[in-house]
Amino acid sequence: MEEALIRVVDLCKIYNPGENEVRALDHVNLQIDRGEFVAIIGQSGSGKSTFMNMLGCLDVPTSGEYYLNGTDVSTMKDNQLSVVRNKEIGFIFQGFNLIANLTAIENVELPLIYRGIDRKTRKQLAVESLTMVGLEKRMHHKPNEMSGGQQQRVAIARAIAAKPPVILADEPTGNLDSASSKEILGILKDMHKTGKTVILITHDNGIAAQAKRVVRIMDGKIESDLINEQFDSEEEDL
Ligand SMILES: Nc1ncnc2c1ncn2[C@@H]1O[C@H](COP(=O)(O)OP(=O)(O)O)[C@@H](O)[C@H]1O
Ligand SMILES: [Mg+2]
Repeated sequence: MEEALIRVVDLCKIYNPGENEVRALDHVNLQIDRGEFVAIIGQSGSGKSTFMNMLGCLDVPTSGEYYLNGTDVSTMKDNQLSVVRNKEIGFIFQGFNLIANLTAIENVELPLIYRGIDRKTRKQLAVESLTMVGLEKRMHHKPNEMSGGQQQRVAIARAIAAKPPVILADEPTGNLDSASSKEILGILKDMHKTGKTVILITHDNGIAAQAKRVVRIMDGKIESDLINEQFDSEEEDL
C-alpha cells in the first residue's frame, strides 16, 4: 500500500519538561491521505497550534514519530526541516503576516526569492496565484490599502505560489468578518478541488463543518475523527 501523506504515531509535545510541564500533545495518532480536506477543531489551549507546528515541520515533537511522504521528519535537524517545509507546505495564519511596505505581488514573490527561483518565473507564479485568489487588479497595492479579506487572499497567494501539495491554515478566518470568511473558505475549497491537501485549524464548529473530515482535539488528545456526510463537492467521484 502507498504510504499516507501524513502519519503521526504516538506524538507527544511537552513544554517546560519538569514540574511545570505542559502536555500540549499527548499520544496523538493520525493519518491524512493526499487530497484530503481536514479540519482540526478544538477549544483554545487544546493543542491545535502545537499540532500545526509539528505537521508543518516548524517544530519537532518531544516523542513519537511523524512520517511525511513516508519519511520520518520527527528527528530532523532545523536545516533539513526547512527544506522539507519549503517544498511541501504552504502556510496561512490568522494574522496574515504580510510585510507592510511591500505590495501584494512583492509579498507573494518574497518566498520565491528565498527558493532561488529566477525573476521571470517568480513574476509568472506570483501573477498566477494572485489571479487564482481574484486579486489580479490589486497586485500593486500595499497591505494597508486592502481589506482584511484581501490581505488574507494575498497571504493565500503567497502560500500557494510555489505550488506546495499541502496547505496548512491556522485560524485563517479568525480576524475576518463573515463575508470575507466565506470567501476564504471558498478559496480553500477550490484548492482542495485542484488536488491539494488542505488542513484547516479552527475553534469554530461552523467553519470546521465546511471540511470533509473533522478531527476534534481536546487536552492534546484526539477526541473524535468523523467524515462530514454533508460535504458538498461535485468533484467527489473524480
Ligand atoms: N511555547 C510554549 N511554552 C509553554 N507552553 C505552551 C507553549 N505553547 C503552547 N503552550 C501551551 O500548550 C497548550 C496548547 O497550546 P496551543 O497549541 O497554542 O493550543 P491552541 O492552538 O489550541 O489554542 C496550552 O496549554 C498552552 O498554554
Ligand atoms: Mg492556536
